[in-house]
Amino acid sequence: MPANHAKHDIESSELRKKKRMKCLAYVAAFAVFQTAIILIFVLTIMKVRTPKFRVRSANVESFEVDRAANNPSFNLTMNAELGVKNANFGNYKFQNSTIVFYYGDVSVGEAVIRKTKAGWRSTKKLNVVVNLSSNVVPSNSQLGNDLNSGVLTLHSRSTLNGKVELLFIFKKKKSIKMDCTLTIAVTDKNVRGISCK
Ligand SMILES: *[C@@H]1O[C@H](CO)[C@@H](O)[C@H](O)[C@H]1NC(C)=O
Ligand SMILES: *[C@@H]1O[C@H](CO)[C@@H](O)[C@H](O)[C@H]1NC(C)=O
Ligand SMILES: *[C@@H]1O[C@H](CO)[C@@H](O)[C@H](O)[C@H]1NC(C)=O
Repeated sequence: MPANHAKHDIESSELRKKKRMKCLAYVAAFAVFQTAIILIFVLTIMKVRTPKFRVRSANVESFEVDRAANNPSFNLTMNAELGVKNANFGNYKFQNSTIVFYYGDVSVGEAVIRKTKAGWRSTKKLNVVVNLSSNVVPSNSQLGNDLNSGVLTLHSRSTLNGKVELLFIFKKKKSIKMDCTLTIAVTDKNVRGISCK
């Protein structure tokens, strides 16, 4: 029955066409899917994020204050916990550095930061002990007023120079800065607040 055969042929070629279209659709969908995966990979994993560097907490170990009107002074030993928060999919390795504490514009003490690394998506905690002394602060400063007001404000600044190593392969130089303000209660001899830029 030729008519039937012809019909059958048309049907099967249409079926083949449909199959081919379906196959193309799968390939296209897969290409879109793969592109999306690559985009997500590039936008999240391969993105270099600037690590954050700050003072997490600080304890006063000793705090001697002299409120003498003609020559006010303080000696303060502080144990500070610093944090390098690294949100990258790779280590942040940094070089030796220093952290400097200021009263106003005057450096009142500093501590060494040893080179190390902050791991993938984690916070590296570093402890530093510093002896801070006002002996270089000019006697005409606000220090007497501040000590009498009961609140001493100090700033800590530091820069880390290092590299983010994405997936151990791609290296990107990153310098990060700390700029924190510490308010210290003079009579209670404790750190009342820390805020970082
Ligand atoms: C701080 O230390 C210096 C040097 O050791 C000393 O001369 C000064 O009297 C001390 N100041 C206070 C307030 O203890
Ligand atoms: C880093 O500091 C440590 C000790 O403070 C020292 O032994 C080392 O040589 C320093 N490294 C560099 C590269 O300066
Ligand atoms: C701070 O001063 C104390 C007493 O003067 C001393 O024992 C200590 O080693 C000093 N610490 C630092 C980190 O300089």
